[in-house]
Amino acid sequence: MADASEVDAYFETTLGIGDPLLDRARERARAGGLPDIAVSPLQGAFLALLVRLTGARRVLEVGTLGGYSGTVMARALPDDGALVTLEVDPHHAEVARAVFDEAGVAGKVDVVVGRAADTLPGLEGPFDLVFIDADKPSNPAYVRAAVDLSRAGTVIVVDNVVRGGAVADPGDTSPAVTGSREVTELIAAEPRLEATALQTVGAKGWDGFLLARVVG
Ligand code: SAH
Ligand code: DHB
Ligand code: MG
Repeated sequence: MADASEVDAYFETTLGIGDPLLDRARERARAGGLPDIAVSPLQGAFLALLVRLTGARRVLEVGTLGGYSGTVMARALPDDGALVTLEVDPHHAEVARAVFDEAGVAGKVDVVVGRAADTLPGLEGPFDLVFIDADKPSNPAYVRAAVDLSRAGTVIVVDNVVRGGAVADPGDTSPAVTGSREVTELIAAEPRLEATALQTVGAKGWDGFLLARVVG
């Protein structure tokens, strides 16, 4: 029986997901000493599809890292589309800018350096799609900010809310896991959001994401 990573490899190969440029983006991040926690190629392709399915023109990302997910989303945007991506670590931002340059999307991307809690209030909405993928304890605050920067129909994705199942283990009170629960409860209590959560397995292990839509 194949394992989840082999299944990822099967679908990546068979669907022709990923390309040398994205491989280079991942390699640049690794060479720059960044943690290897970018979305997987298949998850990236899902984000690209979301950009296209929603017809997004303005995308907000919280958590740039080395620009892997950002490159994938920026490439899926129309020529006059824009990605605003928030990153606290100046070195991550520098690596990401080089990656955006190399991918030919730098003209569509604005990397904003600083704590997202500090930079979000200065942004102007509405965004059509928001990908939240930074410090997990802040997820409730980021979803609140995303709703404030939304319009009816805006789609919000929150990465890494399952964390190997820990979200449903009441004994786990680590801040990242508490953040997952709090953001789920916040979404449930927010009448402007309809949402689901999807678990994922694959190259990155057992995790999952929340997918929400702003109703009005
Ligand atoms: N979205 C990326 C992965 C992001 S990893 C991809 O899939 O390619 C999480 C990133 O969030 C890291 O680069 C980390 O430095 C950044 N981050 C952590 N805390 C943050 C904060 N308070 N504000 C903004 N970015 C933050
Ligand atoms: C971690 C963060 C991520 O955004 C991710 O996709 C996987 C792991 C982490 O902080 O461990
Ligand atoms: Mg993530």
